[in-house]
Amino acid sequence: MNDLFKSADIYIDTLFQEDRDLKNAAASVSAANMHDISVSHNQGRFLYVLARLCGAKKILELGTFVGYSTLCLAKALPKDGQLLTIEFDESNAAIAQKNFDAAGLNTIIDMRIGKAIDILPAIAAAGEGPFDMIFIDADKPPYAEYFQWALRLSRPGTLIVADNVIRHVFDPSTSDDKRAGVERFNKLLAESSAVTATIVQNVGVKEHDGMAIVVVN
Ligand code: SAH
Ligand code: DHB
Ligand code: MG
Repeated sequence: MNDLFKSADIYIDTLFQEDRDLKNAAASVSAANMHDISVSHNQGRFLYVLARLCGAKKILELGTFVGYSTLCLAKALPKDGQLLTIEFDESNAAIAQKNFDAAGLNTIIDMRIGKAIDILPAIAAAGEGPFDMIFIDADKPPYAEYFQWALRLSRPGTLIVADNVIRHVFDPSTSDDKRAGVERFNKLLAESSAVTATIVQNVGVKEHDGMAIVVVN
């Protein structure tokens, strides 16, 4: 990655500093010796600003990991706000729960453990929607199915954001199922009359990627 892009990202980080809770979440990744697949600090801040912009009170997230993006989004909510986040991996979820407890955000954040494709129908059936904002960031092959569930859990004006929608299109080392999943998602977005969408290209410490930014019509 171009050094300029990384330097600029690091410069932006020095302007808008990571708070204690986010530092704690980032440290929990290195403490567990895991590869950091969280959004970057700047991307997390972008999510925070988006959530504030849409006045979100109810947010749904697919793919918690250790809760870095979850914390960014939860911090944008009012005190009576709700964030429902779904994570498949129990050890990731255990670390995330500790991070939510440490941040004092465990009354706002409700984590459901299991496969998103199994939990989404239960959320719909229980009438827990519609959500004001939905962040899709779990496994990539079923992104198109996640998009369809996101639509069912939306109202006109809901903001849907999806992470990692560019890297897998261009990275030759990506697996075929991830590339196909992301390409299917992007095509569906572009063709859907239910939404108006764009993709914002990202550069910086997390290499080259993109986020889809989608408003429900
Ligand atoms: N949103 C997080 C990063 C999520 S990484 C952040 O930016 O901080 C993707 C996560 O999705 C991983 O923790 C992985 O365990 C989880 N995941 C993978 N497959 C899943 C599935 N089928 N359902 C729910 N979560 C899944
Ligand atoms: C991976 C997942 C992500 O959501 C991400 O932003 C980066 C990497 C991964 O599974 O490798
Ligand atoms: Mg991601």
